[in-house]
Amino acid sequence: MMQTYGISVIRTVPELRDQTAAWRDEDERIALVPTMGALHEGHIALVRRALETCDRVIVSLFINPTQFGKNEDLSIYPHDEIGDIEILEELGIHVLYAPTMEEMYPDGFATSVRVSELTEGLCGVFRPVHFAGVATVVTKLLLQSLPDVAVFGEKDYQQLQIIRRLARDLDIPVLIDGVPTVREEDGLALSSRNAYLSPRERVMAPSLFKVLQKVATGLQAGEEVQGLMEAGKRELLKDGFSKVDYFEVCDAETLKPVSRIKAAARVLAAAYLGKTRLIDNHPVVANRGD
Ligand code: PAF
Repeated sequence: MMQTYGISVIRTVPELRDQTAAWRDEDERIALVPTMGALHEGHIALVRRALETCDRVIVSLFINPTQFGKNEDLSIYPHDEIGDIEILEELGIHVLYAPTMEEMYPDGFATSVRVSELTEGLCGVFRPVHFAGVATVVTKLLLQSLPDVAVFGEKDYQQLQIIRRLARDLDIPVLIDGVPTVREEDGLALSSRNAYLSPRERVMAPSLFKVLQKVATGLQAGEEVQGLMEAGKRELLKDGFSKVDYFEVCDAETLKPVSRIKAAARVLAAAYLGKTRLIDNHPVVANRGD
């Protein structure tokens, strides 16, 4: 275990288990915030939530190769462990768990966690290996640390629902806490991938949130789902997005597409600005009496 000023950097499962056992002996509540590093204000909001609800907070940092497809950005994914440690120390985090590749995927590793249905639509159509990679690594992180609470952002809304489902289905005794998306002043959701946007693309990017917001408002006012989805897609293309992977209205829990708003729903989109794929989503509240 490497001890910097106030934070311990742990790289192995036995060390992590020793640490969590010691905290448990003291009846302390433990939170886990899984990340792939390159921490920004979005992650910091997750960490703050964890600090509010638990006595001890573990932040994990592991750039998980199995959730990247062949042509995705694994090789250029930002990595700055020293910068991340500085941020976490300032926030008063107790442990950074940064396992090595061998610790997470030792020779002969052969298991995959696959959540059906929830993973099949939306991003699952365009990133076929992504959610099995996420589900497997998150299951491992939960079982390695056995936290009382694990905190994830609503920015990756499909991921959040998948993790809620896997924890429930596999009886992992953890509360999955979802935190609202942190945005720039102009509405752009914070994401490590925003760094790939050119200055011109950065100016166009907030349109994604504005269009989602407009569609959610229309849905709440009783406008028709199909027409609004098509209009939303057209508007993104008009605003400079080069390709829209999807623009859909789904049930907030099951993520099944809906044609009328009868219960809480979510409008979700993924679209490209040049080579950068942005995702975002917005809640849709069902009107009482509908
Ligand atoms: O959202 C992320 O950063 C990752 O998908 C996660 C949950 C840390 C798993 O690698």
